[in-house]
Formats: sequence, structure tokens, C-alpha cells
Amino acid sequence: MTDEQEQVQPSGVWATAVGVARVRALESARENALFRDPLAQAFAAAGGLWPSAPLPDDEAARRRRLGVAFSIVIRTKFLDDLLRQASASGIRQVVLLGAGMDSRAFRMDWPEGTRLFEVDTAAPLDFKASVLRREQAVPRCERRTVTVDLREDWPGALAAAGHDPAAPTVWIAEGLLIYLPEDAVEVLLARITAQSAVGSRMGLTLGSRGVIERFGADAAPGPAASMWVSEMPDDPIGWLAGHGWEAAGHTLRERAAAYGRPISAPPQHDEGPGGLISAVRR
Ligand SMILES: C[S@@+](CC[C@H](N)C(=O)[O-])C[C@H]1O[C@@H](n2cnc3c(N)ncnc32)[C@H](O)[C@@H]1O
Repeated sequence: MTDEQEQVQPSGVWATAVGVARVRALESARENALFRDPLAQAFAAAGGLWPSAPLPDDEAARRRRLGVAFSIVIRTKFLDDLLRQASASGIRQVVLLGAGMDSRAFRMDWPEGTRLFEVDTAAPLDFKASVLRREQAVPRCERRTVTVDLREDWPGALAAAGHDPAAPTVWIAEGLLIYLPEDAVEVLLARITAQSAVGSRMGLTLGSRGVIERFGADAAPGPAASMWVSEMPDDPIGWLAGHGWEAAGHTLRERAAAYGRPISAPPQHDEGPGGLISAVRR
């Protein structure tokens, strides 16, 4: 059997990771792309999302789809920059929680000695592995995959894969927390904190208040928004401070303007799917 025949097709929550790859492939093809992800198209194609489907006719659905795609592009750039800053600060451990089709291990420059962990469940990691094999992709750092459900006791699995909690880590939870119930998010953050030496960093995306109602309510089964279950707390900075993190919050609008992609719609329509958080462990 060939790799292609064996390939599991995306389903459930992890199918969203292939949708994210589709957005990154589209962005990578732009002349003024905010990042280039050369593997994204292969992930999207393997999941049946390339060539990309036309936008829906319905104006509201169209706006929602473009809004989600825009937020993915901006958050990707935001977290790429956060990771570069973490590397520059001397951090050599990277953990991508709910890594999906994230290809940063392959597409970014990493300092010598960087160890990058991709944590996700078995189906997306297997799917990803078969695409990476076909593409003969070579990581640019020491890449390790950790197959575990993040609602379970994942720190043990991460440690078994070689993570050292005594050395600082940069953690990324991109497009993940919105899929976890609030109590699971709370436990996840406590566990991240327990594995974070002083000086560790973190980049999070949080569903903005009201986004589930605005984006998810009329989503047919299947689209990512219909699986969203949690939004950011009222005071995300205070919430993180309570866990021992000094955090800063950024809006999509502010980051988009900084990256030369200003949002022209008035602020009340600005509420994209996620707040962008950077944090340092004190
Ligand atoms: C929207 S995708 C984002 C993927 C990646 N972070 C990115 O931005 O490209 C959400 C990812 O979270 C993963 N995920 C959701 N719930 C999870 C859980 N309980 N344990 C592990 N991974 C989970 C899914 O499998 C999927 O890969």
C-alpha cells in the first residue's frame, strides 16, 4: 500500500489543522506574504482542501470565512515573531501544543541546539508524518513528536520525549484553547506553568468574547467554528498573572496594522476569532 492509500482523512477537531494549512498556503502565494510555509499546500492537498474551495455565496458566511482566515494569517506572523524573540533570548526548547500542521520546525531558522516538540493526538501526527515523508521534508532543528491528548496527563509524555522543565521553554498554543472546555484550559495552563522554568515564554491565541455566538451559532457541523467551546476570560492578563505569567495582550486590529494589513472595517466588526497573548514566566 502506498502512503497515499494509507492516509487517514481529516475528521473532527483535527480537520481544523488542515484548514489552517490551507489558509497558510494561500498566504504563502501572496507577493507580500507575512510568512512563507512551503509545506502548507501539501497538507491542504492531502486533506482534500486544495485547490482551495470557492468562498460561499452567502455574504455573512463569506465574511466569517475571510475573518477567520485573516486572523490565522495575523496570529501566525505574531507567533513566528514571538518564537524568534524567544530564540534570541536564549531559549532552546520549543513546545507546540496542538501542533496540527504547524511546519515551523521546517520553515524557520533555529539556533543550534534547539529542540522542538510537537504535541497532538495520533491521527493528525500520523497524517502529518505521511505528508512529510512524501515531501522529503527535513527539520531545521531537533524535532520530536509527542502523541497524547492534552486533556490527559501530557507532561509525563513530554518529559519522556526529552523535555527538561529545569530549562526555559517557549510554549505555543495556537488555535487550540478555543476547542477545550474552560476547566480543561485551566488544568492545561497549570500544567504548562509547572513545567516552565523562570524566563520561559508563551504565545497563546484566545477566542475573543462573544465570538462563539457570532461565528459558531449558524455554522453547519464540520466547520471549525461549530467546535469552539471556550472564549477568553474577562481579564486574560490578570488570569495569567494569577498563574505566574507576566502577559501582554494584543488585538488583531493592532497587529494587523503593525504588519501592514490594516483592517478597514469599523472597530465593532473587528472582533476576529482570537486575542493574541505573549507572556513571560516570572
Ligand atoms: C485549529 S488546529 C491548530 C493547529 C496548529 N496549532 C496551527 O495553528 O497550525 C487545532 C489543533 O489542536 C489539536 N487539539 C485539539 N484538542 C486537542 C487535545 N485535546 N489534545 C491534543 N491536541 C488537540 C487538534 O488536533 C488540532 O491539530
